[in-house]
Amino acid sequence: MEAHPEVLDGLEHWRELPRVQQPTYPSQPALDAAVKDLAAMPPLVFAGEADKLTERLAEASRGDAFVLQGGDCAETFAHNTADAIRTKIMTILQMSAVLTYGASVPVVKMGRMAGQYAKPRSADTETREGVTLPAYRGDAVNAHGFTEDERMPDPQRLLRSYHASASTLNLIRAFTYGGFADLRRVHEWNKGFMRNPAYARFEVLAAEIDRAVRFMGAAGVDFEAIKTVEFYSSHEALLLDYERALTRIDSRTGQPYDTSAHFVWIGERTRQVDGAHVDLLSRVKNPVGVKLGPTSTVSDAVGLAEKLNPEGIPGRLTFITRMGAARVREALPVLVEGVRDAGIPVVWICDPMHGNTITTENGYKTREFSSILDEVKGFFEVHSALGTVPGGLHVELTGDDVTEILGGAEELDETRLAQRYETLVDPRLNHQQALEMAFAVAEMLRD
Ligand code: PEP
Ligand code: CO
Repeated sequence: MEAHPEVLDGLEHWRELPRVQQPTYPSQPALDAAVKDLAAMPPLVFAGEADKLTERLAEASRGDAFVLQGGDCAETFAHNTADAIRTKIMTILQMSAVLTYGASVPVVKMGRMAGQYAKPRSADTETREGVTLPAYRGDAVNAHGFTEDERMPDPQRLLRSYHASASTLNLIRAFTYGGFADLRRVHEWNKGFMRNPAYARFEVLAAEIDRAVRFMGAAGVDFEAIKTVEFYSSHEALLLDYERALTRIDSRTGQPYDTSAHFVWIGERTRQVDGAHVDLLSRVKNPVGVKLGPTSTVSDAVGLAEKLNPEGIPGRLTFITRMGAARVREALPVLVEGVRDAGIPVVWICDPMHGNTITTENGYKTREFSSILDEVKGFFEVHSALGTVPGGLHVELTGDDVTEILGGAEELDETRLAQRYETLVDPRLNHQQALEMAFAVAEMLRD
């Protein structure tokens, strides 16, 4: 089916609107050439998959599923290796198994993966020892090294992001359809995690899960039949040229889909209701998200809901709240109530990372594991008090043993941050901390 001409015109409307957080490219013709190449590339995901995710998210909005969205703050070309991708998927699957038990509902698995290459920044430039250069905006824009050459935005990087995303998705599909996600295998990994005495306080829960898995086997559950899982891709839809070039018309329905990922979200810095980001995503049919920080007002949230989900489709819109542990209990209730009273269905997801970032005396950007958990706890408390549904979690994590976040049962302290601090932007939970979080949240869900 062809798209209606008005639909096609609408997809260009963002160009007339204020847009923030876009790179300043040195050459417009070079950008145009890259965008033209991108527009000719095959889609990365398919409309039917995005629609399926909308259904899953609708289940989460009713409390019949729980969302786990996780991955790097910023993926990088250099770390886009088979090992890094495999351990990230493994971490998300392990967490999902624990959360499925805690929540007693299926977990919708979404990676901040296969496209998370662009970052909003609080300043346009960075100054070091008197030298000022453009800020690093993610591998889709420029390189992290502090030289003029590396920091110059290069539109060919949009194409590299596309190809990197395609190869990541290829591995994701192979892993999640090829037996890697078999619950029995995931359960064995979790038993390995529990052998560390640091996690003794989860022994009761771990034993219950073990008994549940054995019960499933005894009751004749066909593990072979359930060893493939749905695993969705997602990223912040920041670079409008990239997202527009990958927005395609579905031949079945004539409707536009952003085929760069199954789910795309708008960040806290780009969620202006009359801005270009909201306009472009209001016109695609994918499930979309918006981050809401502590300064969000009810009118911001309701305005966004009206613009992004005017038809009130369950699962279409997710609000990812990131208030900070200190503010979640006072800032979140008014937003949730306001949106509930407006009658537009949304999925509420908690991002306990971005409101809890601190800088240590020795200069590391980090987060306290305890603050992260406290924000999640506050999120559950608020929804429980209002009778609304806490739909899921959004976390920055890696499958590696990095040392970027303070605390956890292994008590990572400031002196250890230097050991393996690898993130180029925000600090991530390491593999152990991610699992510890899943066990702690499963306990909260059960209580
Ligand atoms: C992020 O998710 O990495 C991010 C930049 O978040 P926010 O838009 O909530 O600040
Ligand atoms: Co981040």
